[in-house]
Order: sequence, then structure tokens, then C-alpha cells
Amino acid sequence: MDGRIMMKWGYLRNPYYEYGTKLPLLLPMDSHKHALITGSSGAGKSTALLFLFWNFLSSIIHSQGYRKGCIHITFCDFKNSPDFWFLRPYSFYYTGEGVYNGIQAYHERFLTARQKGYSTVKHLLICDEYGALVNYFQAKDKAEKTHLATDIISANAEILMQGRSLSFSVWSAVQYATSDLFKGSRLNYMVNLSLGRPNREQLGMLFSGEDIPRNRNYQPGEGLLLADGFPLLEVKYPRIVDQGRWNQRILDVLMENIF
Ligand SMILES: Nc1ncnc2c1ncn2[C@@H]1O[C@H](COP(=O)(O)OP(=O)(O)O)[C@@H](O)[C@H]1O
Ligand SMILES: [Mg+2]
Repeated sequence: MDGRIMMKWGYLRNPYYEYGTKLPLLLPMDSHKHALITGSSGAGKSTALLFLFWNFLSSIIHSQGYRKGCIHITFCDFKNSPDFWFLRPYSFYYTGEGVYNGIQAYHERFLTARQKGYSTVKHLLICDEYGALVNYFQAKDKAEKTHLATDIISANAEILMQGRSLSFSVWSAVQYATSDLFKGSRLNYMVNLSLGRPNREQLGMLFSGEDIPRNRNYQPGEGLLLADGFPLLEVKYPRIVDQGRWNQRILDVLMENIF
């Protein structure tokens, strides 16, 4: 069913300001499976995640050959943010310490698919505040002599490195993408997004060698996106007007795909 399904990853920022036109940035789903979304608190990460989440589902359900049960999403919301409470009826929505189980369960699905050698389902693991959750488990590990943070980082890194061909995607939202969070697998994110006021050190790490536009004052929901095979682009996410309706549509698709 793959064909070449395209997904909308936001809008180009400059045409938006200069002409008021919304030019969508489309990337092939097959080649751009993993995404790293960075930005300080209030930069618009969670808002962009919801926009992207809907576009992921929408691209699949509107593609030829869509059938119920072909999407499996695991959503980890460590901070238990009200933005995502609409997901509470969904069994693969995890919050707080529960995100550990969510990531482990996702990893197990991945291992099963790897053993079989194929997967007919499109899997996606979304971790909002991935850095905060790793830090939390690192502190817990120190106090309780456990190794939960290592488990999480290893599972995430393994899927980043091997998930693509099996249709196991990972989207991680973090404030700062420090390398210890990824165990050498950070370069496997095919889409790198920096939102809000840029942090120079972070930009250097994410976009080294790229021509970074100078003196930009990005508002929440705006920033830079570097996708494999594309030049560095300035992007903008829309503020969602009717959030309630969007949320309901997302939930409807998730529920009809439970099997
Ligand atoms: N795309 C956007 N357009 C306009 N304002 C936005 C956008 N995204 C976020 N904001 C504003 O910024 C605030 C913080 O956004 P949020 O997504 O919660 O940021 P983060 O998850 O990075 O902390 C929102 O409540 C909203 O007021
Ligand atoms: Mg957030």
C-alpha cells in the first residue's frame, strides 16, 4: 500500500508572510520516518506534534489500500499535558512513569516484526518531552539502582537505527537534543525541526554545515526544518482554530485502528 505516500510537514514560512499563501512542505512518508522536534518550553513543540500527528494519520487514511488496523500509534506524554488529554480513552496513550511501559511495549512489537522480517502495519512512537522523561528515569535509576533510563535510550536508539524498513517510526520532542539521549543514533532522524527562538549551540548541532538564516526572530510555531535530501527550510505551523474537532478526528482514527 506504500506507493509514495506524501505527508505534510508544515508550511513554508516566507510565502506565508510575504504573500499570505500557505505552501505545504510535503515529504515522502517512506523515506522520512523519524523526526526530532526541538525548542525551548513554549516554542510550539506540542502544538506542532498535534498538527503532524493528524497529517500522519490523514495521509494514511486517504491513501489507496487503507484498511482498518493498518496504523498503530504509541503516544508517550510524560508531562501529562492537557493538550493530549483527549487521548485518554485510547489504550496506547501513556503518561508520567507509564511512558516506560509504552516505550517497552513498542520495542517489543518492533522485535516481533524484526523476527518475522516484515510488518503490514505502520507503527509510530510519539514521545513528547523525551529529554525530560529520560532525565527523570536517570534520577530514579540513581536512587533505586535500576536501569530504566538505559532501557529507554537503548530501545529508542535501536528503533531509530533499524525501524525504517519495518515501518517503525519514532518522533521525539525535546527541549535540547543533547547527544546522551540518543546513544549515537541521533543522525537517524530524517527530519530535524527547531522551533521558536533559536539556540545557537543547538542549531550548530542539528544543522551543522547548513546556511542558517541570520537575525531571525521566530515566533512560537515557527523555525527551521532540515529533512534528508532537502535544503534547510524555514517553516511555520498553523495555530489550530478548531482544536476540539481535530482532536475528535484523531481519536476516531486511533479507535478504529485498534485490533
Ligand atoms: N503554531 C503556532 N502558532 C501560534 N501560536 C502558537 C503556535 N504553537 C504554539 N503557539 C503558542 O505557544 C504556546 C506554547 O505552545 P506549546 O506547543 O505548548 O509549546 P511547547 O510544547 O514547545 O512548550 C501555545 O499555547 C500557543 O499560545
Ligand atoms: Mg509541550
